[in-house]
Amino acid sequence: MKAYVDKDTCISCGLCPSICPEVFEMQDDGKAGICDSVGEGGNKNVVPEEAAESAKEAEEACPVAAISIE
Ligand code: F3S
Repeated sequence: MKAYVDKDTCISCGLCPSICPEVFEMQDDGKAGICDSVGEGGNKNVVPEEAAESAKEAEEACPVAAISIE
């Protein structure tokens, strides 16, 4: 399972890092992004199993549907 944030769509509401801080963070550009720690070792954007549930919650909670989980 991989997580992505569409930065052009994100309105910086801050919900996703509050729901799933293991995967999402607010970045220097003021938009959400995927934490550097996610997908270390060449598996970029791969959501850790233990964070899968909350990552999906964040996807559903985003008011502008900027998050996709595949
Ligand atoms: Fe942005 Fe949606 Fe997260 S608006 S801060 S991607 S919940």
